Order: sequence, then structure tokens, then C-alpha cells
Amino acid sequence: MSDFIEVMKSTALNDGEMTAVLLEGHDLLVAKVDGEFYIADGRCPHLHGHMVKGTLEGTVLTCPLHGSQFDLTDGSVVRWTKWEGAVLGVAKLVRHPRSLRTYEVKVEDGTVYVGPQKATTA
Ligand code: FES
Repeated sequence: MSDFIEVMKSTALNDGEMTAVLLEGHDLLVAKVDGEFYIADGRCPHLHGHMVKGTLEGTVLTCPLHGSQFDLTDGSVVRWTKWEGAVLGVAKLVRHPRSLRTYEVKVEDGTVYVGPQKATTA
């Protein structure tokens, strides 16, 4: 996605809400936090959990499958799975922590647009 593409009306979400959007074959998640919109991949980079079924606390999104957490501002990993100790060590070896892809967002005339992917942090 190189250009900005219309996603939804800005009134479609209230603060603290998120929704799934299928756009040109991309499974995206749109969230609104403190009046700001955030758009990320709709699937978890761990094992493809459906992120919209997770929980949102501030800008931290938690995957419903194994509890990985990502900051929607840049997609960075806050926590890689909810596992601990040796299990977490093995999990990281099998699938190393990776950021959730996030995208540029703009809101114009009451419409939310998604743009290019943001640079990843991890
Ligand atoms: S699929 Fe998201 S934490 Fe495992």
C-alpha cells in the first residue's frame, strides 16, 4: 500500500474501540485511542491470532491467543507471549519476537485513511 486509501468514517469508532477491516486483501485492525486512530495488521506476528478479538489498554494491544502485547504507536513488542521461563525461551527460539506491522494514518473531512507501512522497531 503506497498511497492513502479510505478506510472508514471517523465517527465509526469511539475511543477505546477497535474493529477489523478487510482492505484490498489486507486484514487490518483499526483502533481509536484518545482521539487518535491507529491501524495495524489484523493478525498477530506470533502465530496469526486475530488481534481484534484481543484487548486494548491505552495503545497496548494484547493478542487473544498467547498474550503477546504490542504498542500500536509503532508496533513494538511490549511482551512476547504470556509464557515465562524455559517455555518462553523455547518460544523465542522457535519464533523470535517481531513487531506488529503498523501503518500511517490520516484523518481528513471525517474520513480515516491508511497509508504506507511505518518503519518497524524490532
Ligand atoms: S498468536 Fe498472538 S501471541 Fe501467539
